[in-house]
Amino acid sequence: MSRRTAATHVNTSAFRDEASSSSARETPVMPDWIIEPLTSPDEIDAILAIEEASFTNPWTRQMYLAEIQKTDVSFFLLARDASRRAVGFCSFWRVLDELHINNLAVRSEHRRQGVASALLARVLADGVGLGAKSATLEVRRSNEGALRLYERFGFSVAGVRRGYYTKPVEDALVLRLADLETPVALC
Ligand SMILES: CC(C)(COP(=O)(O)OP(=O)(O)OC[C@H]1O[C@@H](n2cnc3c(N)ncnc32)[C@H](O)[C@@H]1OP(=O)(O)O)[C@@H](O)C(=O)NCCC(=O)NCCS
Repeated sequence: MSRRTAATHVNTSAFRDEASSSSARETPVMPDWIIEPLTSPDEIDAILAIEEASFTNPWTRQMYLAEIQKTDVSFFLLARDASRRAVGFCSFWRVLDELHINNLAVRSEHRRQGVASALLARVLADGVGLGAKSATLEVRRSNEGALRLYERFGFSVAGVRRGYYTKPVEDALVLRLADLETPVALC
């Protein structure tokens, strides 16, 4: 699978409700979020706006422009609402058989609505398609919301990078999902 893969429509209420049993599956529902690859450098502005509002040390336009040249390694997914406004994004690398999630962020007014979950589900599915067997990422030790999100997808703490972050200085927890093929049970 490549960055040109088609859009995914994700209904996160059904996604989060494990009860989504046969009757829910048989009922057509409007998608909440559209998840699709970044298709043009013009869309970097949308990512930068979310990035700058979400992180104290955001990636710059130059970093993004450099990243999108690395089409065999570096991947970007955007989450859009029904009017196609970008509400979140995730960037990740696939290196050999491992995914590394670099950045994941959602516009503040769209948080706790399943956007990051929809992005993460698509990242992990794309990772399997790209041949990845495991996934890693770093997260601030104090970022309880993100930790809870990643735990729900089966990530667990694999290590600590002391003083990894600046503004403010803080340790990073290294999270790892060892087996991308195993279905994830959200709870
Ligand atoms: C972390 C972040 C990406 C989560 O995005 P989101 O779209 O709000 O996440 P979801 O709605 O998919 O949340 C799924 C679950 O994760 C957990 N979660 C997410 N944010 C949480 C928070 N602030 N507090 C507690 N739990 C949280 C909850 O279990 C949530 O399920 P629930 O809403 O049913 O309780 C978002 O808060 C964000 O952009 N933060 C700033 C950037 C950042 O920290 N990125 C992560 C860097 S590693």
